[in-house]
Amino acid sequence: MTDVPANSDNSSLTVRDNRTGREYDIAINDNTIAAKDLAQIRLDDEQPGLASYDPGFVNTASCRSAVTYIDGDKGILEYRGYPIEQLAEKSTFLEVAYLLIYGELPSKEQYDQWVHEITYHTFVHENVRTFMEGFRYDAHPMGMLMASVGALSTFYPDARDIGDAHNRHIQIIRMIAKMPTLGAWSFRHAQGKPFIYPDNDLSYTANFLSMLFRMSERRFGADERLVKALDTLFILHADHEQNASTNAVRSVGSTQVDPYSAVAAGVGALFGPLHGGANEAVLRMLRRIGTKENIPDFIKGVKDGEERLMGFGHRVYKNYDPRAKIIKKSAEDVFEVTGTNPLLDIALELEKIALEDEYFVNRRLYPNVDFYSGLIYEAFQFPPEMFTVLFAIGRTPGWLAQWVELVQDPEQRIARPKQIYTGPRTLDFTPSSERWA
Ligand code: CMC
Repeated sequence: MTDVPANSDNSSLTVRDNRTGREYDIAINDNTIAAKDLAQIRLDDEQPGLASYDPGFVNTASCRSAVTYIDGDKGILEYRGYPIEQLAEKSTFLEVAYLLIYGELPSKEQYDQWVHEITYHTFVHENVRTFMEGFRYDAHPMGMLMASVGALSTFYPDARDIGDAHNRHIQIIRMIAKMPTLGAWSFRHAQGKPFIYPDNDLSYTANFLSMLFRMSERRFGADERLVKALDTLFILHADHEQNASTNAVRSVGSTQVDPYSAVAAGVGALFGPLHGGANEAVLRMLRRIGTKENIPDFIKGVKDGEERLMGFGHRVYKNYDPRAKIIKKSAEDVFEVTGTNPLLDIALELEKIALEDEYFVNRRLYPNVDFYSGLIYEAFQFPPEMFTVLFAIGRTPGWLAQWVELVQDPEQRIARPKQIYTGPRTLDFTPSSERWA
């Protein structure tokens, strides 16, 4: 180990290519080397330069970002420098959305204007409604959301002017405003219930609950504790740096396409079970365990490698996921209103046992964001297919903040990875008329 600070100006890496005996100095900046600097390392002028191979970008930085900071070892998550715990307790989802996108907390005037603009863009064109009605009766709400977000690009062709800051602002307002409308209508469609129009006298999250659940009453009055809990969940999901869906938004956005098309790609990535679907798996697991008495057997199965304790462990967090702590508290608030879920007792007991068991302690496996969120969503009476839709609504400001950062970053180029070609070469083509004769 050396004493050279990680970001020291003179840090560099000396590499010796044992094929040629040549040595190279490669600059280290921000604890990374530039992959393009490897290209100078080559066998001879005929050969391509050295590249790095990193499926899944496990150890490759794709951008510089000032949006979200994570320290997985210490269990720290910050948006624009503000700890997630403080934002969840003291802020609102729309204020956090402003912070993520514009980088600073809004003044009173900025906040009022922001909320006003979002509130008055919640309606969608009537053709979006007929478009959504055209889906099969049992269409998955996430598929409907993905398609309808993408379809918005056809309603707002001006969105293609991504170089204009004011234009970007308008599209951002539209997208944050309309996601709950599209999400709620996707849910109502599968239930065969009429679509409910936005109520602009309600807050962002209360309006979403109204569009989801209102029937014949004049106004849907959700319990304030439920509104706060859902708003908090949106805050917790608002950004998580370069996760799979954000990477999808950035990759598609790097082609300079409009933001609706880029965000539709993010929704598609989130749809996958490896990204947005773990909380549903937690519920299935808790149901299967059934009673507290079955927990020791279940834990034994996990330790024997027969299955996984879903909602535990994280690629980045090797400590308690800070979002899980906040969600656990929100779960208590929600159950105060809805009555407790018997699965909660099993979850609490599982957590207690796992946190004391050396298998989990040694592997640094702690509850993640999904361990308790499914229980809360179920208390709201959301079917599991809606869980990822809720995630997508919460993640929209993060996707947009990262998209704005991308389009303003002079270092960014179209995302176009290299490959290692493994197929055949220079075959002779025989026309089908001869091959099939
Ligand atoms: N239950 C039991 N053992 C586990 C678990 C688990 N949930 N997670 C990891 N391990 C073990 C794993 O078997 C391995 O043990 P060994 O060293 O003996 O082979 C060790 O811990 C390291 O695991 P890994 O698979 O190398 O870790 P990873 O970083 O590749 O995987 C993970 C991270 C989240 C995919 C994994 O922990 C997991 O599958 N968890 C359960 C699913 C889950 O809750 N996913 C939601 C993640 S949070 C969502 C988000 O932030 O978007």
